[in-house]
Formats: sequence, C-alpha cells, structure tokens
Amino acid sequence: MAEKKEHLYKVLVIGDLGTGKTSIIKRYVHQFFSVHYRATIGVDFALKVINWDADTLIRLQLWDIAGQERFGNMTRVYYKEAVGAFIVFDVTRTSTFEAVQKWKNDLDTKVTLPNGKPVPCVLLANKCDQAKEGLVNSSAQMDDYCKERGFAGWFETSAKENINIDEAAKFLVSSILENDRANDWEGSGTNEGMHLKDEPQPEPKSGCCS
Ligand code: GTP
Ligand code: MG
Repeated sequence: MAEKKEHLYKVLVIGDLGTGKTSIIKRYVHQFFSVHYRATIGVDFALKVINWDADTLIRLQLWDIAGQERFGNMTRVYYKEAVGAFIVFDVTRTSTFEAVQKWKNDLDTKVTLPNGKPVPCVLLANKCDQAKEGLVNSSAQMDDYCKERGFAGWFETSAKENINIDEAAKFLVSSILENDRANDWEGSGTNEGMHLKDEPQPEPKSGCCS
C-alpha cells in the first residue's frame, strides 16, 4: 500500500476580542466548551490531526490570535506562512462584524500564498445559539458580502452548541488542498519544507458561499 501523504498547514484564527476564537478551537480540537472568558494573550496554538481520506493525513496548526488591539502590531509576525484563515465575529455584537473588514485587510496586506494570491479565508458568524444582530440575519446579503470581499465562504457557528465547526474547518481545508494541488507544491515527509515549482500557476478556484 502507498504511504500516506502528510500535509502541515498553518491556519490563523483572527477577529475581535471575545468573539469566540479560543472557544471554537477548544471545541474543534478538545471537544470542550466553557462559559468563562479568559482573554488570549498574544497567541496560543493548537494542533488538529485530520485523517482526511485513505491516503491523506493533515496536521492543522491553529494559531489562536488575541483580539485585543494592543497585540495588533504583532500580527505580521504571526501571519507568516499561513495558508488559510478564519475570521470570527460575534453575531450578537455588530461592532465585531464591522471589524471584519479591518481583519481581512490586515490579513491580505500581511500574508499571501507563495504565488502571490490571498490566503483562503472563511468567515465565521459565531454564537449563533443567541439572537442575531444586523446583516447576518440575511444569508443572501452575507453571501454578497463574502463574494465582494473575497471570502471563500461563511458559516454560522456555535462553539457552545457545537454547530458547524467541523463543517467550516472541512470547507477551509478543502480550499487549502485545492490551492496546494493547483499550485503543484512539492511536499514530502512532514511537509515542513514546501517548495513551489517555477511553472506558471493556474488560477485557484474560489467558491462562495455555504
Ligand atoms: P480574545 O482571546 O480576547 O480575542 O477572545 P476570543 O475570541 O478567544 O473569545 P473566547 O473564545 O475567549 O470567548 C469569549 C466569550 O464568549 C466566552 O465567555 C465564551 O464562553 C463565549 N462564547 C464563545 N463562543 C460562544 C458561542 O458559540 N456561544 C455562546 N453563547 N457563547 C460563546
Ligand atoms: Mg482567545
């Protein structure tokens, strides 16, 4: 039997303070949720190992980045070599949705794929177990919003009730894999040294929305 292919992907989780980034990661990686809020200081890490299919193993290195403004100047360092991102907002606080554009700009100006394209980014409308405020009440408008701003897609999630978190991760990983294949990366072993061939690169596919 052929050996399993392994991929190591660095994925960022960004968005305003208290939107649920840490909670989403804890739910996804440790099947755990707590109502107690402890602000992330700087950055935390988590690793999720995914048996993607019979011959693909994926190690998802999740970078849980503090939403607090005072850590904002560190993002360039944190974003380095990321191949995908989640931007999280809180459906109960419109100010966190207004900040989404700021986070997306920050992301797109500070990191790109080796071929110069923006990294695939999925928008998470978190705390959907609670009453929603604003644009997120219209999924058609959210679809347009995502299309206009270059999000690969969006999902309503709840870390509390475990809604759509696996689905959103699966969707982002699919986009990452698609880019990876389209760009014909040369990955081997642990994939720690990935190189891009000097061939003309096809346009990556993009899809919107969930
Ligand atoms: P920073 O680290 O400061 O950037 O915040 P964060 O985005 O990591 O937020 P965190 O995950 O710490 O969650 C903030 C608060 O929201 C906590 O009290 C969580 O319990 C709560 N919370 C997170 N996700 C959900 C959710 O899906 N539903 C509900 N009802 N509460 C949630
Ligand atoms: Mg946090």
